[in-house]
Formats: sequence, C-alpha cells, structure tokens
Amino acid sequence: MHKFATLAIHAGQEPDPTTGAIMTPIYQTSTYVQEHPGKHKGYAYARGKNPTRVALEKCLAALEKAKHGLCFSSGQGAEDAVIKLLRPGDEVLATDDLYGGSYRMFTKIFSHYGINFRFVDMTNAASIESHFTDQTKMIWIETPTNPLMRIIDIKAISEKARKKNILVVVDNTFASPYLQNPLELGAHIIIHSVTKYISGHSDVVMGAALTNDDKIHEELAFIANSCGAVPGPMDSFLVLRGVKTLHIRMERHCQNGKEVANFLRNHPKIDKIYWPGFTDHPNHDIAKNQMKDFGGMISFTLKKNTMEEAFRMASSTKVFSLAESLGGVESLIGHPASMTHASIPAELRIKSGVVNSLLRLSVGIEDISDLIEDLRQALD
Ligand SMILES: Cc1ncc(COP(=O)(O)O)c(C=O)c1O
Repeated sequence: MHKFATLAIHAGQEPDPTTGAIMTPIYQTSTYVQEHPGKHKGYAYARGKNPTRVALEKCLAALEKAKHGLCFSSGQGAEDAVIKLLRPGDEVLATDDLYGGSYRMFTKIFSHYGINFRFVDMTNAASIESHFTDQTKMIWIETPTNPLMRIIDIKAISEKARKKNILVVVDNTFASPYLQNPLELGAHIIIHSVTKYISGHSDVVMGAALTNDDKIHEELAFIANSCGAVPGPMDSFLVLRGVKTLHIRMERHCQNGKEVANFLRNHPKIDKIYWPGFTDHPNHDIAKNQMKDFGGMISFTLKKNTMEEAFRMASSTKVFSLAESLGGVESLIGHPASMTHASIPAELRIKSGVVNSLLRLSVGIEDISDLIEDLRQALD
C-alpha cells in the first residue's frame, strides 16, 4: 500500500482510457448511452454515479484507509444521509461541543422525524456507558471539537459502543485524514466537510462519508441516490486537484498553528486559549496518541469578555479575513457566538464555553511572521 502523499496524488486516478489525459476529465454529463436496456458501462444516470466523482471517492477512501467512500453536495448532505440510517425512536448521543449546523439539523429537522438527540460531554470516555439506553443506536463524535478544541478518545468510546452494537460516527473535518484516521481507531463511519482542509482552497462546498462496512456503504449509496445530495463533476475535479497537496498544506497549517498558539498564550490581552498541542491541554495525551500533529485550529477568549471587544478584534485583522469556514490556505478569523454557533441558544452556548469574546482562528499557510504581526496589531 502506498503512503499518504502518494495516495493523495494518485489514488483512484488512472490516465483517461480514450486520450491518456493524466488528469481525470470532468465528465460533465447527466446520462450515459446504453447498448440495450440495462447494458451499459457501469454508469446509468449521474445522480447515481459519475466517473469524476468516483475517482474522488476512491481517493478519499484511500486517504481515510476506508474500503468505501461516497461524496455528497455538502458536509451537511453527508450528515443528513448518515442520520437517515436511523429509524423513529432511535437515539443519538452527540458531543456537547458540536458544529452549530450539525446541532441545528439534529434538533430542528430530525427531531421532527422521531429521532432523539442527547448532547453529552465525551471528554471522559469512561463515562460514556452511563449515557447508553436501549434506544441508543449512534454516537456522534467531533474531535477536535468545534470551537473549543476538546479531544475525544475515539478508540475508547468505539470499544464501549461496539459491545452494544452502537454505530460510531466521527466528524473528522477538523483533523482531516492527514492527522487522524478514525476507522483505524474503531469508528464505523467518518464524515467530512470536504469544503474545509480536503478541498483546501475555499472554492467548493462538498461532503463525504467513508466506511469499511459493505452494508452501511450500500445503505448510504442508496440514500444518496434516492435523496440526491450529490456533488457535480466540476466540484469533484476541483477537490481532486486540491487534495493532491493536502499533506503539504497540513504540515504548514500545523507549523503555523503552533507558532500562533504560542504567541497568543503569552499575550497579556488573552484569557483562555484552546489548542490541543499544549501539554497542559486536558486531553493532550489522547491527541498525541490519535493524531499525527495538532492542526491549525485555535480558539481563544479575551480578558475583556464582551461581544464588542471580540467584534473589534475580528474586524481589525488584515491578513486574517473575517469569514465563516476553515481549512483553506488563507487564514480566517471567526466569532462563533454570532457566526457558526448563532443557532445554539445563548444560555446553552455560554454554558458550553462558547462565551461572548471567544474567537476562532483557522491558521492558513501564509508567512508566519505576517500572521503574528497581524494578530499583534489587531490586539493592540
Ligand atoms: C466540523 C464541521 N462539520 C460539518 C460541517 C458542515 O459542512 P458543510 O459546510 O460542507 O456543509 C462544518 C462546516 O463548517 C464543520 O465545521
């Protein structure tokens, strides 16, 4: 089996059989000609399958060490398909520090279909069993969590869940397949917002679901084709192109992330700082075990804990752009309380640690001295 960098560049991609083109063509087609009814070359209609998308699905599966991969029109599209594996009455235990869009979909959409969600602190894996009921059918883990960078022990939770036939889903968006491979740690399904690190250039919205389980894959493919949240060939091509540099980009995200985290830690205006690379991070040892490095996502709070102070800082940076999203080559700053996590009720949000002055950085791969200088002048 080839190593990560080789797979990122080659997996799933063969020279085009008709011309030898080294890059997978953008098969911009909705349908495929059949010889006689039902006799075709494996492709019948592009909602079900498209060769550009298939190449990307194979590539992402290889990077996550998964047998199967499926791409969706967004990360939320992938999550939607995974929850549709459940039935009314089933219960999901989800991490209590969760991407706001996932929280919104769980509580505002799927709760109407009889699926129940409970949001629990999973940072102490030993306590997870105390939350199990006969209805618990799925555990939804985000690690590192968004935005508080908590670390959940995927292996320990998966071992306990597997004993009870509970499916373990990991949203691996923050780590990317380069830093963490949850299937190897015992998870059943990985989902990604491909929009982020995998695509890497802030020009595509896409999702993916990966698994080793044939039956789960078959069901997810059935849901994808039936419900139709599939990406187009142009976006698949762009991600195939972006993912070729994932390993290089992630190395630089991690290097820059470390320097920015250390700079902020020593700044007099910063109160708390959340980054799993610090040895005094509560689950640093677990991060060290299950991740290759600590990533470029950092959150922090200001000593002056007000919305106004956070807004002032977020609009004073010049290299860090104020924007939703993360994982692109360019550095972004965000204010979770009013942006990604605005859909979570204020009381619940503050209780979970997403206080008014919390700011989140997606540290990009620009020159580190420019990034530090930018934060320094914005904090002044
Ligand atoms: C951790 C995480 N999961 C899922 C999503 C949803 O992905 P998408 O925006 O591609 O639908 C996001 C988006 O920000 C995210 O940060």
